[in-house]
Amino acid sequence: MAGLFIAFEGGEGAGKTTQSLLLAERLAERQTPHLLVREPGGTELGEYLREYLKSERPLSPEAELLLFEAARTELVTSQILPALAAGQVVIADRFFGSTIAYQGYGRGLDLQVIESLNRFAAGPAAPDLTILLDLSPEAGIRRAMSFQTSFSPDASGGLAPMQRNAEGTRFEDLDLEFHNKAREGFRAQAEAHHDKWVVIDALGPIESVQEEVWKLTRERLYPDEAEPAATAESPTPVNPGPQGELWPQAT
Ligand SMILES: Nc1ncnc2c1ncn2[C@@H]1O[C@H](COP(=O)(O)OP(=O)(O)O)[C@@H](O)[C@H]1O
Ligand SMILES: [Mg+2]
Repeated sequence: MAGLFIAFEGGEGAGKTTQSLLLAERLAERQTPHLLVREPGGTELGEYLREYLKSERPLSPEAELLLFEAARTELVTSQILPALAAGQVVIADRFFGSTIAYQGYGRGLDLQVIESLNRFAAGPAAPDLTILLDLSPEAGIRRAMSFQTSFSPDASGGLAPMQRNAEGTRFEDLDLEFHNKAREGFRAQAEAHHDKWVVIDALGPIESVQEEVWKLTRERLYPDEAEPAATAESPTPVNPGPQGELWPQAT
């Protein structure tokens, strides 16, 4: 039995890691075998390259692209393909859509070269569903930084909040133009592959984004399953919509 491959894409702070973990939890509750991976990472080489790539050491865009692809090949061959062959659900926190968005649209590398390297690195592993968590870079980066706000002396000698991301970069120093181009790259892919990509507005609360994610997963994983009966914990809405509105596959 072939498994199901779901990838989360989107900018920094859009909620990819949060939603990947929540989806994995939900599958665990149902004892559905699954594998959660992140890119780059998930293998010894991948984690090593992740640290290097996140260190902000100077690196040409071409070398950066090849390192991401090297990490991807290791992850695909050692983890993703075996899990799919075993019928598992694979959840990827970023996959090759990120390479098109960042190295292609963001850094301006040739899109055809990237696509062919993506295919070379991923082989037969291609997501059945890619969920794009779409959010403005301003909102996403502020969100990702908000828990790292610290205070530093401002020009007048007072204390001003200063936000840094996980790599320690100040918000003001981040290249918003680069992140905006990447967002455009994500959206262009969603439009070009609307059979495999779904865009979710990531501005909503975590719970409602999760419900949308779960609905998409559920439709693919358990297509014949009816909507579960309402329980005491989740009472029937006072004014329910038409039958099947919430879960299109419900019978
Ligand atoms: N829908 C949401 N609304 C508000 N905050 C969110 C939402 N999704 C995630 N967050 C918070 O934003 C921060 C970044 O989320 P994260 O999942 O790490 O994003 P990503 O993996 O896309 O960079 C975390 O502190 C997380 O709790
Ligand atoms: Mg993340």
